[in-house]
Amino acid sequence: MFNIVLYQPEIPPNTGNIIRLCANTGSQLHLIRPLGFELEDKKLRRAGLDYREWASVVEHDTFENFCEQIQPKRIWAVSTRGKRVYSDVQYQPQDTFLFGPETRGLPQTLLENLGQERVIRLPMVAESRSLNLSNSAAVLVYEAWRQQGFSAGG
Ligand SMILES: C[S@@+](CC[C@H](N)C(=O)[O-])C[C@H]1O[C@@H](n2cnc3c(N)ncnc32)[C@H](O)[C@@H]1O
Repeated sequence: MFNIVLYQPEIPPNTGNIIRLCANTGSQLHLIRPLGFELEDKKLRRAGLDYREWASVVEHDTFENFCEQIQPKRIWAVSTRGKRVYSDVQYQPQDTFLFGPETRGLPQTLLENLGQERVIRLPMVAESRSLNLSNSAAVLVYEAWRQQGFSAGG
């Protein structure tokens, strides 16, 4: 199982898409507060998620709380500022993928604390700003899962 961490997500439909992504790939979704919406938001409910899909979601007050509780073995920060291309990494079961908020990206201090080696990016053509959050999560989780031979439970 992979851990997908959304740091202070802001836009309900993105989180809704990622909840479904996690349920369908056997990943655990962690949401770091504050969220830009209520989890009961009608835009999220409109995503038509069922109880099984909601079961993959856990909230944490801070990123530090998440680390204390989950004790992640390897964290990969996913950022447009990464130097390392996501497909060059050999992923392992239990890897953690950390994504930034839609309008701000991940805080620079957090990226610096993790170290450059742990910051990965998805290539884009020149002058592009960024991909949609849920699209970038889908690309990454499927590459990591592909490397595990699509074994059960991410
Ligand atoms: C809409 S983007 C944030 C844009 C923000 N201005 C930035 O440059 O990070 C939301 C999140 O999606 C992920 N993301 C989007 N495009 C990406 C890319 N090309 N490479 C890596 N991560 C990306 C990152 O986790 C990012 O924090």
